Amino acid sequence: MNAQEIIQKIEKIENLPTIPSILRKILGIIEDPNVSLQKISDFVSSDPTLTARILKMVNSPVYGFPGRISSINHAMVILGLNAVKGLLIGVSVFEVMKKNMVGLWEHSLASAIYARIISKKKDLEFAEEISVAALLHDIGKVILLIAFKEDYTKIIELAKKRESLLYEIEKEYFGITHAEIGGIVSKKWNFPTKLIEPIMNHHRPQLSKNFTIETAVVHLSNILALARGMGYSGDLYVNPVNPTIWKDLDLNYEEIKDIFMQAEDPLSSSQEIFLSDE
Ligand SMILES: [Fe+2]
Ligand SMILES: [Fe+2]
Repeated sequence: MNAQEIIQKIEKIENLPTIPSILRKILGIIEDPNVSLQKISDFVSSDPTLTARILKMVNSPVYGFPGRISSINHAMVILGLNAVKGLLIGVSVFEVMKKNMVGLWEHSLASAIYARIISKKKDLEFAEEISVAALLHDIGKVILLIAFKEDYTKIIELAKKRESLLYEIEKEYFGITHAEIGGIVSKKWNFPTKLIEPIMNHHRPQLSKNFTIETAVVHLSNILALARGMGYSGDLYVNPVNPTIWKDLDLNYEEIKDIFMQAEDPLSSSQEIFLSDE
């Protein structure tokens, strides 16, 4: 299989028999470039499980509004269309994550928590959107699992056996990495570049052009989640920090220590999200 064949298959992801039906419906809605807040809101509100999941998520310690958002409309107003689109994808793939790659959901949640803390610390605008980008940074892995379960499972095993970084083995066997796949699908979903670049370049932050700080935050959040040992991302080893991020994101030792400390509370309460799910 080469990169071209892989891209062709994921371009038609909504036609794959293995795709969860809720995700299929969601993709149909968010791929419409003219979709309105109202339409998304109506769609989510018509599905009680989805509504409950989104509200649980926005009121969770992952985001900064504990217990304060009571309706999908309200979430839309506070978080904005792009963040809600991202959350819709996030909460609808968590089952695929839980079933096929135990720990990926926890790794994603932890990355989102770190991203929000870093963004706040650096006074970045759009902290919630950066955090959504971090929540979705490994979405390419979910797509690879949906589309090429057998091959991808072998690749994950091989990365372990060879003690290599997962994305390097993906590149070797697929000719493309989960990060690039994440970039391709998020373009297809009409996400803004602010979300696409960090997802696409989270392992190669030096390639980001327009959203270097956002990409740097997601790159670092992934590494902090790995270093903290939260969840399982398919990688056994903590990826090295790409030193180019420090020019956009200068953080000293004390500040990083502080980020780790600040994350502890939300991390422990985030464990409960979706555990009690129907
Ligand atoms: Fe990754
Ligand atoms: Fe990751």
